[in-house]
Amino acid sequence: MKEQLEKLKLQIDQFEIKQNEQVEAFRLKFLAKKGELNDLFEQFKTVPSEMKKEFGASLNQVKQKAQQKWEEAQSQFEHSKSKKNSGSIDLTLPAEASFVGSRHPLSIVENEVIEIFKKLGFVYSEGPEIEDDWHNFSALNFPKNHPARDMQDTFFISEDIALRTHTSSVQVRLMENQKPPIRAIMPGRVYRNEAISARANCFFHQIEGIYIDEKVSFADLKQTLYYFVQELFGQDVTVRFRPSYFPFTEPSAEMDISCLLCKGKGCNVCKYTGWLEILGCGMIDPNVLKASGIDPEKYSGFAFGMGIERIAMLKYEVKDLRTYFNNDVRFLTQFEGQ
Ligand code: DAH
Repeated sequence: MKEQLEKLKLQIDQFEIKQNEQVEAFRLKFLAKKGELNDLFEQFKTVPSEMKKEFGASLNQVKQKAQQKWEEAQSQFEHSKSKKNSGSIDLTLPAEASFVGSRHPLSIVENEVIEIFKKLGFVYSEGPEIEDDWHNFSALNFPKNHPARDMQDTFFISEDIALRTHTSSVQVRLMENQKPPIRAIMPGRVYRNEAISARANCFFHQIEGIYIDEKVSFADLKQTLYYFVQELFGQDVTVRFRPSYFPFTEPSAEMDISCLLCKGKGCNVCKYTGWLEILGCGMIDPNVLKASGIDPEKYSGFAFGMGIERIAMLKYEVKDLRTYFNNDVRFLTQFEGQ
C-alpha cells in the first residue's frame, strides 16, 4: 500500500495540465469520489493501527498536494478565460473613436445652390451624361459645322453621340417634355477634352437653370441671379453683367460678382479688376424654344449656367482645381460638419 501511494504521488506530479479539459480530467482521476485517492482512503481502514499514524499523514500530504495542483490549474485557466471575455466587454474602456465622413465640397456647394433656387420655386431635374448631338448642340442653336461648336472640346463616342459638354442639354430635354411655366435647376457632370491643369479638368460640374413663362424678361433674370448670389455669398455682394455670346441665348451675358476677398478694391484673386466671373446667362433664343416645341410668340425665358468648381474655389479659396478630384483625405476632412 505504501508503494501504491508512492506511485500515485508520482502520477500526480507527472500529470500535465495544459488545457482546460485536463483540469477536470485531473480532478476525476485523483480527487473525485471514485478517484484514486479515495480508493486509498477506503483501504486505509485495513491498515494496522500502529501504522495508521504514519500512513495517514503521508496519505493526507498526497491529497493536499493533488488538491493544490488542481486549484492552481483551475485558477490559471479561469483567469485566462475571464481575460479573454473581458477584452470584448470591458465597459470601462474608452470608446473607439468613430471616423465621421464629410461631404465633398462640390456636393456642399451644389446642395446650397439647389436649396436657394428651391426657395424661388425652381424644381430639380437631371439628364444623361452621354448625350446626342441634338440635345447637346443642334437644339441649342449650334448649327452643324458652326465654329461655336469648337468653344467646347468634345469627347465623341460616335458621330452623333458624345459626353455632354454642358448641362444646357438638360434644358432641351425639359422643354421637350414639359409645358411652360417651367422653372428648373439642373446640376450634373460635364466633359471636355482639355489638358488637365490647376484651372481645367477633362470633367467638371455645372448647374443649369431655366425659367420659361409668359412675359419673362431680362429684369427677372437679373433680379433672380442677384438674389441668388446674395444668398450664397452674403448681402454685401454686388453684381455686374457683361455682354457675351452663347448660341442658345439672345441677348447673352456673363455675370460677375464683386471680389469676395478685396470687396472690389483689387487683389490677386480678381486679378486687380475687383470682379469675379461666375456664370453665363441670357434670354433663351427663340430658335431654341421653337426647336423644343415651345411657341416663342407666347413664351419667353431666361437661362443660366455656372461651374460648381469655380464657385467652390471662390467660396473656399481653393487654388488648384485638381484638389477636388485627388481624394486626399487631408483636404476632404476640412469640410467635416458642413
Ligand atoms: N452652357 C454654357 C457653358 O457651358 C453655360 C451657359 C451660358 C449656360 C449661358 C446657360 C446660359 O444656360 O444661358 O459654357
